Amino acid sequence: MRVLGIETSCDETGVAVYDSRHGLLGHTVYSQIPLHSGFGGVVPELASRDHVRKLAPMVDALLTEVQSTARDIDAVAYTAGPGLAGALLVGAAFARSLAWAWDVPALGIHHMEGHLLAPMLEDPAPTFPFVALLVSGGHTQLVQVADVGAYELLGESVDDAAGEAFDKTAKLLGLGYPGGPALAALSRHGDPARFRFPRPMTGRPGLDFSFSGLKTFALTTLQQQSEQTPPSQREKLHADIARAFEDAVVDTLAIKCRRAIEQTGSRALVMSGGVSANQALRARVDGLMQELGGRAYYPRAELCTDNGAMIAYAGWQRLRAGQHDDLRFDIQPRWSLQELGSGG
Ligand code: KG4
Ligand code: ZN
Repeated sequence: MRVLGIETSCDETGVAVYDSRHGLLGHTVYSQIPLHSGFGGVVPELASRDHVRKLAPMVDALLTEVQSTARDIDAVAYTAGPGLAGALLVGAAFARSLAWAWDVPALGIHHMEGHLLAPMLEDPAPTFPFVALLVSGGHTQLVQVADVGAYELLGESVDDAAGEAFDKTAKLLGLGYPGGPALAALSRHGDPARFRFPRPMTGRPGLDFSFSGLKTFALTTLQQQSEQTPPSQREKLHADIARAFEDAVVDTLAIKCRRAIEQTGSRALVMSGGVSANQALRARVDGLMQELGGRAYYPRAELCTDNGAMIAYAGWQRLRAGQHDDLRFDIQPRWSLQELGSGG
């Protein structure tokens, strides 16, 4: 079976074809970053319009690339939420229309379920049950995963998501949007011993996170230090703050992951979402899971951030469970992962 996957929840247009026998046949992602960067963040209306422009030619080119035609596609999966309403509507309307025209089922997929299952596109793939750390621009969640659709939320951010904190702190340091990768690159030149940022909510029990205070801590440090730093030393100051910030986020995530693993007795930790592309975080969870006698799993970097492959794969899993949607379609800009059932 072949599933076409379509992702348009935010500022990336992603399309992919997943084959149940041969795996991921191909995927392409078009990033709208240059479109939004002048505004310092995503402009929802521009995002929707750009998805409209890109989707049809991208699907057309991908089908040619994977030597498939419409007749080879058995289902169309699309991101139904959470995300920007207009952007979601573009993908949903496009995917449903294709499915109707091709006379195949359509499946509305939860974006975070896509991220959560993305590591299963890799070899070796994790097997159920596992604990998942979802770290993206909009979410930071620890989830106990028993099976496809059986998700129990263990903890989540009570304010900013980890990616959001990266982006906001990067902005303070004068780095472009999205700030995560830029801040991570700058932090490599930073001195880890110069500043120590707090590890929020690690001093009390529980698996929730809070990242908004770190951004404020970065701002205060920057303001205090800037006054006594000559212009020639400013870049160094920014790198040292970036390093302290990244160390604090990585440390905090690792402390909560350890707790989640100890609490659930799981031997596998799956990490996904844009922030899981972060090298320092990857090295850290690898070390942690080794120490705990288990293993960490995460997708290749291009499948950590938003993409169509994870949606095609989640679509295949849902189809296999006997699910698909009727002709009426709906998007859910706000949608909890726990509302998903395993279906069948
Ligand atoms: O999963 P994703 O592509 O989109 C959402 O669903 O939100 O995640 C995007 C987020 C952004 O906040 C971006 O700054 C962050 O992931 N990110 C990173 C890195 N690469 C992307 N954060 C830290 N280090 C990175 N290398
Ligand atoms: Zn995402």
